[in-house]
Amino acid sequence: MSIRTSAAHLSRQIQPRPALRLAPRLISPYGVQKSPMATVAPPVTQDSTSKKGPTAMVFLNMGGPSSTDEVGDFLSRLFADADLIPLGRLQSYLGPLISRRRTPKIQQQYAAIGGGSPIRKWSEYQCTEMCKILDKISPETAPHRPYVAFRYADPLTEHMYEQLLKDGFGGGNGGRAVAFTQYPQYSCSTTGSSLNELWKWRNRLESKKSTGETHPSGAITWSVIDRWPTHPGLIEAFARNIEAKLAEYPEERRKDVVLLFSAHSLPMSVVNRGDPYPAEVAATVYAVMQRLKFSNPYRLCWQSQVGPSAWLGAQTSDTVRSYVERGQTDLVLVPIAFTSDHIETLYEIDKEVMHEDAKGHPGVKRAESLNGNPVFIQALADIAHAHLQSGDSCSRQMGLRCQGCKSERCLEQKKFFAGEQAKILPTVR
Ligand code: FES
Repeated sequence: MSIRTSAAHLSRQIQPRPALRLAPRLISPYGVQKSPMATVAPPVTQDSTSKKGPTAMVFLNMGGPSSTDEVGDFLSRLFADADLIPLGRLQSYLGPLISRRRTPKIQQQYAAIGGGSPIRKWSEYQCTEMCKILDKISPETAPHRPYVAFRYADPLTEHMYEQLLKDGFGGGNGGRAVAFTQYPQYSCSTTGSSLNELWKWRNRLESKKSTGETHPSGAITWSVIDRWPTHPGLIEAFARNIEAKLAEYPEERRKDVVLLFSAHSLPMSVVNRGDPYPAEVAATVYAVMQRLKFSNPYRLCWQSQVGPSAWLGAQTSDTVRSYVERGQTDLVLVPIAFTSDHIETLYEIDKEVMHEDAKGHPGVKRAESLNGNPVFIQALADIAHAHLQSGDSCSRQMGLRCQGCKSERCLEQKKFFAGEQAKILPTVR
C-alpha cells in the first residue's frame, strides 16, 4: 500500500506542488552534523528536474500488528512462512495451530506496549524523509515516491504492488522501483522471504497469470538494495546512540559497562544451511566497536527464539541473568538488527529482560532504537543514492545461494532480481 497522499498519476505527469524537504547537509553526514531543518522547497516537476524519475522506493520489512485485533492475522502469516519458521511438511497444520495458541499471549504483549507495533509509523516516516533527501541529492531520478511493503502485516506486499500500478508504475507504463530491505543484514528468512513474496506478486500482477508473458513490455524495472550491514552512516547512528547511553553512567564506571548487542535469533537449521545473517550481524557489531575504538567490553547475543528446536545462542535473557548473577550489573543492551522499535525491543528487552531478568539493577539499560534518527535517515538516502547511481540490480552477494538451499522459489527469485548480473547455481538434490 502506498504511503503517498497525493492522487494517482496514471499519465506519469507529476503535478508541481510545494513540498516539505530537508535542508542540505552542511557538514559530512557522519561527522558532526547539524540537525536537518524543514524548509519549503520549490515544486518538483518531472520535466524540469528528472531524466529517469519518478522512482518508487519500496521499504521491505516484516511489519507488525498496528492494533491487538491484527495480532491473529499477523501470527498466522508469520507461522505459515517456511522461509522464516521452517516446520517441514507439517507447516500448514502446525502453523495455524501455533499461531492460534500464541495469539492471546501476544495480544497482551502488544497491549502492554501501547496497543500495537510502531513499526509502520517509523517505516513510513523513514521512507518519506529519505525520499525528500533523495529528491535533493539525486534530481535525475526524482521524484522519489515512498512505499512500504510488509511481509506479515498491513501494508502487505500485494497491496503495495496494487498501489504502484494504480500510481502509474508498470502495467504497460514502465518505470523503476527499488526494493530497499530494512533488514541491514541479509537472511533468507527475512529479506529473502520478502523478495520471494515480491517476486510472487510481481508475477501475479504483471506477468504470467495476468499477461501470459514473463517479461511483458511496460512492466516495472526492479532493482534491490539487499544488505548494508557496515554502511558508515548506519554504524555512526548506532555508535551515537550507544555513546548517549554510556554517558548516563558515572564516569568512573563507564569504561567497564558491558555492551550487549542483541539480534533476532535464527533456527540452527537455517544457520547450518549457510544463511549469511550471523556473519553479517557480527560484521555490524565489529564495525560499531571499531567506531567506538573498542571503548568497552562487548558480546553479541540472540533473542526471540520460539518452539522447541535448536536456535542460535547465547540467548539475550540468559546472558543478562548470567552477568548480573556474577556481579556485572552495568550493561547496555543494543538492538543491532532492526532499524526501529518493535515488540522485541519494547516488550522483550524493556519489560521482560530489564524489568524481570535484571530486576533491581538500574545499571542495565538499553540504547535507543534508530527510529527517526536524522543520521540514520541520511544514511538511508546515501545508500539509496549510491544504488541508483550504480546501475546494479542487486549486490554481487545476492546471486549466490546458500550451500544447503533446495528451494526452487529462491532459485527463481534470484534469477529474476539478479538477472544477467549473476550466475545462479542450480538446485542439487
Ligand atoms: Fe538461502 Fe535459498 S535458503 S538462498
